[in-house]
Amino acid sequence: MDAAYLAARCRLVDEALDRFLPKPKTRPATIHEAMRYSLFAGGKRLRPILCLAAAEACGGSVESALPPAAAVECLHTYTLVHDDLPCMDDDDLRRGMPTCHVKYGEGIAVLTGDALLTIAFEILAQTPASARYGVGAYVTELAVASGSRHLIGGQVLDLEGEGSDVLLTPAQLRYLHESKTAALLTASIRLGGMTANATPAKLAALTDYGQALGLAFQVIDDILDVTQTSEKLGKSAGKDVAAAKSTYPALFGLEKSRKEAARLTKKAHDALKPFAKKGERLHEIADYLLDREY
Ligand code: IPE
Ligand code: IPE
Ligand code: MG
Ligand code: MG
Ligand code: MG
Repeated sequence: MDAAYLAARCRLVDEALDRFLPKPKTRPATIHEAMRYSLFAGGKRLRPILCLAAAEACGGSVESALPPAAAVECLHTYTLVHDDLPCMDDDDLRRGMPTCHVKYGEGIAVLTGDALLTIAFEILAQTPASARYGVGAYVTELAVASGSRHLIGGQVLDLEGEGSDVLLTPAQLRYLHESKTAALLTASIRLGGMTANATPAKLAALTDYGQALGLAFQVIDDILDVTQTSEKLGKSAGKDVAAAKSTYPALFGLEKSRKEAARLTKKAHDALKPFAKKGERLHEIADYLLDREY
């Protein structure tokens, strides 16, 4: 993957986030500082980058896809702020910095997550309609993916799958990962396509790509939790084993998990056939995610 491309896209996304977010001194300053603290702590910006790349693959512009790109990053960051809370994964390191609740306290961290979730929809509503898709379709797309039947539902199963006395079945674990991670990744990609007025066939291809890539992404996240250092990850390593989480390495071992990630990545590549040359960046991103070290 072209590192310059990723760096340029990160910059573009960061500039958009800075434009869309209230200035840090906006009253009450604490919440606006905290939102920016968690958003600008770092992060790969994977979901917005995918959103922009999907728009381009469908012949659309980066400009029109910037509001959904910024929106999905706000929504994703809210999930991280809440995921790290003491009542959830209880983590004190995120994106190489102390977590939101360590820095600002639990009450403000809950509200920071709430505010990032809410502003995601405020930003998304500013997306220009395309011929096939209006603001209602964009909002529904993100709301369904991040709601109780998908992302939040996945987090529920994640909590329920914790502890040495429960080990989920492979089918349950797959469903958990599809919900907590692949759903938002897929929505990010589909939203990019929708701003570009993607045909139903192209949108279906993006959906297949997103679901395979999203599942691969979480399998790799589980692997990295076991194989990497906290320093490299910018978040505490080894937490899944410590909490006896049901993960791919826990159920299948590292070797089988790696094979599964590679198989799913191949599936993601295959889904891109209808895009031919225009899908090149999406192909590159899939390979980059499979080989990543954090
Ligand atoms: C971490 O997501 C949470 C998961 C869904 C695995 P990322 O690995 O995309 O985190 P950032 O945005 O780069 O910090
Ligand atoms: C987080 O999954 C998924 C969401 C926040 C929706 P993890 O708990 O595995 O993420 P990390 O490893 O803390 O980043
Ligand atoms: Mg978690
Ligand atoms: Mg976690
Ligand atoms: Mg993890």
